[in-house]
Amino acid sequence: MTATIQPHESTPKLIIKGSKHPLKGIVRASGAKNAVLPILAATILCSDIVTLHNVPQLQDVITLTDLLCSLGAKVEINGETVIIDPRGIDNIRASHELVKLMRASILVLGPILARFGKAEVSLPGGCAIGSRPVDQHLKGLEALGASISLENGYVHAYAPQATAKLKGGLVMFDMVTVTGTENIIMAAVLACGVSVIENCAREPEVTDLVKMLVKFGAKIEGIGTEKLTITGVQKLSGGEYQVMPDRIEIGTYLCAAVLTHGDITIENCEPEHQEMLINKLRKTGALINVGKDFIHIVKDSSPILPVNIKTAPYPAFPTDMQAQFMVVNALANGSSTVVETIFENRFMHVEELARMGANIRVEGNTSIIAGVKSLSGAEVSSTDLRASGCLVIAALVAEGTTTIDNIYHLDRGYAKIEAKLSALGADIKRV
Ligand code: EPZ
Repeated sequence: MTATIQPHESTPKLIIKGSKHPLKGIVRASGAKNAVLPILAATILCSDIVTLHNVPQLQDVITLTDLLCSLGAKVEINGETVIIDPRGIDNIRASHELVKLMRASILVLGPILARFGKAEVSLPGGCAIGSRPVDQHLKGLEALGASISLENGYVHAYAPQATAKLKGGLVMFDMVTVTGTENIIMAAVLACGVSVIENCAREPEVTDLVKMLVKFGAKIEGIGTEKLTITGVQKLSGGEYQVMPDRIEIGTYLCAAVLTHGDITIENCEPEHQEMLINKLRKTGALINVGKDFIHIVKDSSPILPVNIKTAPYPAFPTDMQAQFMVVNALANGSSTVVETIFENRFMHVEELARMGANIRVEGNTSIIAGVKSLSGAEVSSTDLRASGCLVIAALVAEGTTTIDNIYHLDRGYAKIEAKLSALGADIKRV
């Protein structure tokens, strides 16, 4: 089944009436976007049907399942369960028309090359938050014996002629790259011989991919560390896998609870993924109680305390939570700094927050924030996925009404956000 891709030209908007009412109640986290995307790509490596559970209903998931269908897979989406039959895949070319919709499509490069010995994947463009090159992905594949050429905006990758199989090798990343690590892991699991990958990303989403591959027969040691040792196998089976919960969606709701001085419980969590964020949110004065699979947060009516943050690879503070936490600091009782070390242009939400009355000064990769008493509703624009999440939570507490446009950015990463926020007492609707 090929789901239709929402035309980006449609310009749905969110209208949010700010209020002093605290968010209260229970919200269930959806599956992790940044785990399900590599896991969907990894089904290309499997020799039988794969059933995924806890899949978030997001535009990015539809974009990637449409790409898998264009390669010859059969896909059935039933709510939060997705069934992929990869056995019919026979096309090694991932077209620009689909790849341009989502940069993470580059994740099919490693699996196609590992399975077929050749791959043609359109180069992802840059995006709003930075140039985001894929040089580390290509260097890693060359270390596994691939020859790579760039022609007409496509990556052409070939395994060694003789075997049409990649060979085990040593891959050392120059910097921590999440999808770079994921692409190379997927390429290595079917290579001939042993691969060692150094300076791996340790994000929980990488670990979720590794757990799925191991469950289907891959041989990978060092799970969760920066050094992985992978012994190539002949093939991977199929089977069922449950996707981990989305720690960034969860973090966004936790920030909303602090901003509205609310009391919410988030269910279907894996709290150990959130230690740094929880630590920082506790410093704002929030009380956070953590269970096996839930997080309960309460923020009383006392002022929000400012907290300095600096983004870095896991387990440090996640760059995907930087914009949302900036809103917490924008309404804190005092000054703070937010340092972004991962992407070169991830402060575009600052301008939009300033239009709502925030007092933020950007100096290079540092934002200096002077907390204000309140924000005011305004017409604002989403510039990228997490920035749009930050504008939504700012609007919840702004005085008056906020209209947010270009919310296709939001729909890429936040499942059912209006329903979830309305259930907690927010006044939010899509027009
Ligand atoms: C992943 O992007 C996430 N996306 C991003 O989430 C997240 O912000 C990012 O990791 C950092 O955690 C998915 O997992 C689908 P990187 P990725 O490669 O893999 C540079 C969201 O909101 N770099 O870890 O593309 C790069 O420019 C998205 O869900 C190279 O120079 O990020 C960046 O500065 C936004 N060459 C840094 O490394 C390369 O070959 C980290 O990028 C690869 C990366």
